[in-house]
Amino acid sequence: MKVPFLDLKAHHEPIREQLDAAIAEVVDAGAFAGGPFVAKFEKEFAAYCGAAHAVGVGNGTDALWFALLALGVGPNDEVITVPSTFMATAEAISFCGARPVFVDIDEATYTLDPGLLEKAITPRTKAIIPVHLFGQCAEMDPILEIAGARRIPVIEDACQAHGATYKGQKAGAMGAAGCFSFYPGKNLGALGEAGAVVTHDAGLADRMRVLRDHGQARKYYHSHIGWNGRMDGIQAAVLSVKLRQLDVSNLRRRSHALLYDQLLGGNEEVILPAQGSSSESVYHIYAVRVKDRDQVLQSLAEKGISCGIHYPIPVHLQEAYRFLGRGRGSYPVAERCAGEFLSLPMFPELTHEQIHAVAEELLLCLSAAKPQAVCAK
Ligand SMILES: Cc1ncc(COP(=O)(O)O)c(C=O)c1O
Repeated sequence: MKVPFLDLKAHHEPIREQLDAAIAEVVDAGAFAGGPFVAKFEKEFAAYCGAAHAVGVGNGTDALWFALLALGVGPNDEVITVPSTFMATAEAISFCGARPVFVDIDEATYTLDPGLLEKAITPRTKAIIPVHLFGQCAEMDPILEIAGARRIPVIEDACQAHGATYKGQKAGAMGAAGCFSFYPGKNLGALGEAGAVVTHDAGLADRMRVLRDHGQARKYYHSHIGWNGRMDGIQAAVLSVKLRQLDVSNLRRRSHALLYDQLLGGNEEVILPAQGSSSESVYHIYAVRVKDRDQVLQSLAEKGISCGIHYPIPVHLQEAYRFLGRGRGSYPVAERCAGEFLSLPMFPELTHEQIHAVAEELLLCLSAAKPQAVCAK
């Protein structure tokens, strides 16, 4: 059986008419860059996250960058984050002129290990960005406590965690700011590029609104040097439609994860994703860990099962960050996980038959690879 990693066509099919109507409305209104459709979505998304404000921007990278800039992060500052993330988290820090300082991840949840945080803080630390990786919130209480005691703002990278909760609070609404990507494959995805920052702080929201629009609060009066980072109207209208489906989609993802857990549990060749006791993951990605990962990935691909790797190289080992001087061995958990992560197909429309097929083939691959792995030792 062929199983795609992601099936956006199946995702959009049932709401196609609503999407077409929403797009037509924007075309009729001619409100393409910012405007009323963006303002409407911002209101809806802020309410969904339990935040006072949302600022729609061009993508998740913009969201992180504007949040950092609006908090005053700049040259000679340090910002703490994790090496197990998409490159964009570190890029946003670097584009402020600041330096990313990495803290290793917890081996069970794959999010920032709060036990290592205090040691990484210096007088230059101007922000901390925990990443809610794969749809699971970082262990926020100790992170907020350590940061709060030093008045360091926490920016949540919630780009993979739309609707995830930690102790009943929604991802994005726990720190000073929460950054989201609406890249098409995300749990809440646009039909193109889009992003948003949510915050409780009206002043911070205002600064980000100015930054995303060339540094102007009033047309042609530029108080700051900003950028063009506006959300476009068509994406906002589409996101308003798709936001209504988000909870149902997330529930489906959670039930698929449960089925994968049941089918793969008990096999010592595969490490399943663990949920923190205070967290409700929305499984943007269902990543298991296996030895001989690349071989397993290839064998599954030959059987028609498309998997992914998120991410094969931790950020500190990327060529672009060689100048930080953090070589192999600097963040052992992140490095080990990067060599073992295997993301299985995960999307709301996945069928039980497909999940059974993926689990069966994965277990077959692992049992076939077992003697080889023993020989290799
Ligand atoms: C953890 C994380 N941070 C940031 C981003 C950047 O978002 P975008 O691709 O919308 O710029 C992504 C997107 O893949 C992400 O997964």
